[in-house]
Amino acid sequence: MIKYHETTQIFHIQTKNTSYIFKVLETGHITQLYYGEKIGIKENYDALNQQYVSAPGNSTVYSTKSDFCLNVTPLELGIYGKGDYREPTLHLQEDDGNRTFDFLYVSHEIHEGKEKLSELASVELSEEDGQSLTILLKDEVSGVKLYLKYSVIDAANIIIRSMELVNNGSGPLKIQRMMSFNWDDRYSDYDLISLEGQWIRERHINKYALKKGRIVLDSKKGVSSSDYNPFLCLAKKTTTECTGKAYGFALIYSGSHESSVEVTPYGFTRIQMGIQSFDFEWLLKPGDFFQTPEAVLTFSAKGFNGMSQNFHQMINDYLIPKYWRRRERPILANNWEATYFDFDHNKIKALVDSAKELGIELFVLDDGWFMNRNNDRHGLGDWIVDYDKLENGIDGIAHYVHQQGLQFGLWVEPEMVNKGTALYRKHPEWIVGHPRREVSPGRNQYILDLTNDAVIDYLEEKLSNIFEHAKVDYIKWDMNRNFSDLYSSWLEPERQQEFAHRYVLGLYKLLGRLVKRFPKVLFESCSSGGNRFDLGMLAYMPQTWTSDNTDAVARYKIQYGTSYVFPLSTMGAHVSGRKSHQVLRKTPLETRFNVAAFGVLGYELDLINLSNTEREMIKEQVEFYKKHRSLFQFGDFNRLQSPFENNHMHWQVLDPDKREAILGEYQQLQEASPVLDHIDVVNLEEEASYHLACRKQHVDEETRMMSESFSIHASGDELLKAGIRPFTQFMGVGVDAYTRILGDFGSRLYLIEKE
Ligand code: DGJ
Repeated sequence: MIKYHETTQIFHIQTKNTSYIFKVLETGHITQLYYGEKIGIKENYDALNQQYVSAPGNSTVYSTKSDFCLNVTPLELGIYGKGDYREPTLHLQEDDGNRTFDFLYVSHEIHEGKEKLSELASVELSEEDGQSLTILLKDEVSGVKLYLKYSVIDAANIIIRSMELVNNGSGPLKIQRMMSFNWDDRYSDYDLISLEGQWIRERHINKYALKKGRIVLDSKKGVSSSDYNPFLCLAKKTTTECTGKAYGFALIYSGSHESSVEVTPYGFTRIQMGIQSFDFEWLLKPGDFFQTPEAVLTFSAKGFNGMSQNFHQMINDYLIPKYWRRRERPILANNWEATYFDFDHNKIKALVDSAKELGIELFVLDDGWFMNRNNDRHGLGDWIVDYDKLENGIDGIAHYVHQQGLQFGLWVEPEMVNKGTALYRKHPEWIVGHPRREVSPGRNQYILDLTNDAVIDYLEEKLSNIFEHAKVDYIKWDMNRNFSDLYSSWLEPERQQEFAHRYVLGLYKLLGRLVKRFPKVLFESCSSGGNRFDLGMLAYMPQTWTSDNTDAVARYKIQYGTSYVFPLSTMGAHVSGRKSHQVLRKTPLETRFNVAAFGVLGYELDLINLSNTEREMIKEQVEFYKKHRSLFQFGDFNRLQSPFENNHMHWQVLDPDKREAILGEYQQLQEASPVLDHIDVVNLEEEASYHLACRKQHVDEETRMMSESFSIHASGDELLKAGIRPFTQFMGVGVDAYTRILGDFGSRLYLIEKE
């Protein structure tokens, strides 16, 4: 709900459990009063009105009329030039060189629902789902207008922020920095939590206490990248996974981005997120407008899990394409780690046959199906099928897969081109890079210039033909390099610093058209694994390949960290071969499944040469996942014990009616004489009685030994208060049917069902 009080000029944006309150000051600036746990709607808030009444010594005051000092005022918009010395939210330059602007309140409008942004990935809300507020600010001298935009999703405790600048002046403007929002917290006693990483080590939790000074978490790679996800969290030092205050901020954007957290000498914390301001300048001619990406703000008093669940609900119910909302995703088999580039028609058919026998529902043909693609040095760009490998073409394979009753999926990497292709020879000007300079490659390939509409049209037609002919049910959209040599032969010289953002707009245009043409195709975004796992891509593609690292133990951390923002339904998670291709570790097949089950399950290993035991195990796994698929993909997810701090990791997924939960227990290394284990359970119904049983699994794939049978009946409050007390682990002596043999990298799933 969005409420405005005329007499006090106070705005209150209220969600199910949160309040965001700000006020228009006499000067026309907007000061923030509060963001946090929900408080009642009132006309005035004396208790929140903590402002400096006189300017601190040697400050710049706003005008001769009072001691009002912008530098020590929490502001909805920070502007350079009038005495606010913190990082500005917006920085502009006029033709005559002026950089001082003063945007003041003019009017506002509140309406039901929310429209999609025309060029950017964004959220759309029906009149029942949310409300929007637009505040118009104006710089009187230049006539330039700025719209502060807010939308609220009550049910998910989400506020969506963005800004739009309209050049109503008479001369051109240069935008040098324009963030999506500004939040000035009055205090700074927080920990900052971000998600950092690299290739095959994405979204690891990075936590430290805020100190005075400015921290920038960003990407200059042209993609959101695995360096720093466009997300950050501020939490009290006492906040845990399940308790305490946590603020979450995330950007709906897939390109270079910037998050800035600045603790000022006065102890305020300024938080901003937006398009990367380095190497960015946007020319705004009179009459033109510029819209920032949307940012998502959320707060929870129920710890990091509460914050994550707000994001999860927003993504599942309001962000991903409508057709895929809460729609169960198929279990897939992908041939990449099974064959790499080395396959032919018969090998693929044999893989499909095995997949079918195991109960798998979708077969995905990965990289290598097109001409000259026997390694990663050639072939990208022309998209002509390699008939030497696939004698009946893609259509033939697709037909065979469909005949077997499976869905068919295909890998593409449309944004890229290799030298030596017909496309490269015909259109060297379509490549990103300066025409007189040698362009640096990444994975031997070059980027197509999506700021150019001709490239977008070419790709739309080329891809649509392939998708239609092969009757694809699924597309894996890959993108395997970061940007270099930023230059477009298509853009005018004065617009070259618009390139990085214009590329993202071009990408969204292409994706928007394809998703509209193929609404029922399941698109999975991928960028060398999780190098572009962000809310922007999810607005078009409901799931993302989480990481090229399929090692189950590495995935403990990757999936745990990823879940800070992204729900299980968005995380592609595959069971791969016994020895990891990324870290050379050998993990049990059951653990590979027990981890991948907490996501969108797939198998990516040699399914042809499995042993009989492995075959049997996979069949059981597939059956178990199918039975509990909706819980695994859409249940409420809670992290309980972190692999970043413990030898054991625990997490739980629970259906919203609290009838069924699955709890995962994962061990890193086996300890000698281990202590008695204990696993917390959360959010069950206290009065209900539950049956708790360990999923029957093999101890490992070498022996035919089954795991201990653990089955108990308990009340919800017993489980909530005492937790689960599993059988003792193997201790070097005495094994019986009740011994829990986990070993290195062992794991268990506990099924909790209401009776
Ligand atoms: C990178 C992806 O992340 C992999 O899963 C695979 O599709 C390869 N590209 C293919 O080149």
